[in-house]
Amino acid sequence: MSNVNSDYAPGHASDFKIAPSILSADFARLGQEVDDVLASGADIVHFDVMDNHYVPNLTIGPMVCEALRKHGVTAPIDAHLMVKPVDRLIGDFIDAGASYITFHPEASEHIDRSLQLIRDGGVKAGLVFNPATPLTYLDHVMDKVDMILLMSVNPGFGGQSFLPSTLDKLREVRSRIDASGLDIRLEVDGGIKIDNIAEVAGAGADTFVAGSAVFKGRREEDAHRYDSVIRAFRNELAKV
Ligand code: DX5
Ligand code: ZN
Repeated sequence: MSNVNSDYAPGHASDFKIAPSILSADFARLGQEVDDVLASGADIVHFDVMDNHYVPNLTIGPMVCEALRKHGVTAPIDAHLMVKPVDRLIGDFIDAGASYITFHPEASEHIDRSLQLIRDGGVKAGLVFNPATPLTYLDHVMDKVDMILLMSVNPGFGGQSFLPSTLDKLREVRSRIDASGLDIRLEVDGGIKIDNIAEVAGAGADTFVAGSAVFKGRREEDAHRYDSVIRAFRNELAKV
């Protein structure tokens, strides 16, 4: 245990999961990038799906998720859907082999139905909260989510700065999860770096998305791998 502004003490440091966002990977060699980051110790592949409608950027879709599975990726794939509408793509991502599918409540006309669609497909379901999105969207669906994802930047781009207001929001969600007694992961996404991951963990997050910090943070001695940066994250998390 430590002193890093820590008001949350997870039972086990090994329950912390690191989820590199492939948004910042080299897309020309994506399969190898995913292999390398997993071999370096990452736990989950965070897969950002943007539609140039719900967010002002355009990225990758279910065909790329399926291609990673065919390439041999067996780690959990965490599909973060920044698309509107969401339901059609939920089916596609279930078929493509996603392990988690999260979506933004503002992008679904029927949040309960979208969550159910995901679980009916045998996939873990999650809701994503933008910095200004109220947590009231959780009120009637706590028992239908496996993951709550708090955005610590406004969605659409990698490489933005962490918004400190996320820390209080994380504490609030952590209380809600603990009070519910349910098995729900609390993920945070945006601006996570080696120098703030411990504070973010202390506020209650257990799953950490990091894009630029991982894929732009590779050290020369690691060649194509990401051992140093993943190890640095784990060392920081061990202080919590
Ligand atoms: C932003 C995406 C993030 C992004 C994080 O809309 O959801 O997953 O890739 O990138 P960094 O870690 O660079 O802020
Ligand atoms: Zn994301």
